[in-house]
Amino acid sequence: MESKSRVRIPDLLGMKRSGRKITMLTAYDATMARLLDNAGIDVLLVGDSLGMVVLGEESTLGVTLEMMVHHTRAVVNGARRALVVADMPFLSYQASMRDAVKNAGRLMQQGGAAAVKLEGGTAAAATIRRLTDCGIPVMGHIGLVPQSVHQLGGFRPVGRTGVEADALLRDAEAVEAAGAFALVLESMPAELAGRITAGRSIPTIGIGAGVECDGQVLVSYDAFGFFDAFVPRFVKRYAELGTAVTEAARRYIEEVRKGEFPSAEHSISAGSGS
Ligand code: KIV
Repeated sequence: MESKSRVRIPDLLGMKRSGRKITMLTAYDATMARLLDNAGIDVLLVGDSLGMVVLGEESTLGVTLEMMVHHTRAVVNGARRALVVADMPFLSYQASMRDAVKNAGRLMQQGGAAAVKLEGGTAAAATIRRLTDCGIPVMGHIGLVPQSVHQLGGFRPVGRTGVEADALLRDAEAVEAAGAFALVLESMPAELAGRITAGRSIPTIGIGAGVECDGQVLVSYDAFGFFDAFVPRFVKRYAELGTAVTEAARRYIEEVRKGEFPSAEHSISAGSGS
């Protein structure tokens, strides 16, 4: 039975120490946030993956701060227990420290997020330090960093060569030293993610990074079968809701066309109250 009290950042650190796995899923609206929160999820990530799974873009690069504030507010409205973390979108934190502070501040003040997530290792360390100095909790994200998809040459696993693996070990160290409270490890060999996890005192949350991470995250639209334009190998489908929605819509269309809906049961008669 989950505790009903709000999940807070120190709870995640406690979970790493006690060996209890952290669970995180993405959400982009209040209804999904409420459903996942009711299930007992620890962290709701308002991911910039919304660009792909909600807005139908080919990458996350077109997501703006305004979009993130809007969707973060909705998720916060639906979440009672989960910690809500908002992604900082592409170019909202890279151009200057001033932008980074102002934009992270908006995700917290206007969006209501408890923390922000940003992509990058050693290159992002100074920004992480500045934000944490301002009292803004930061979750790091290294490995396959989707905002650098063009630089990476596609959505591909990283850390498979010795050079890339060493760089990721240094990135993880730099992100922790800069004050991040947790670190997402995306799409890398399980053995490397295990080494990073063992070497760090902040929790790691893996996606395509094996079972040794301190927690796991999936894009909810992938996990529940809403999104199938591109399904990475590491995604497990926990439901086929996309098929269920299409099937339900077909039944609705058929019943409306045949005049079977609305039936008397779903019609309002005079003096029937509600
Ligand atoms: O945007 C997102 O959904 C993410 C997860 C894949 C970790 O960053």
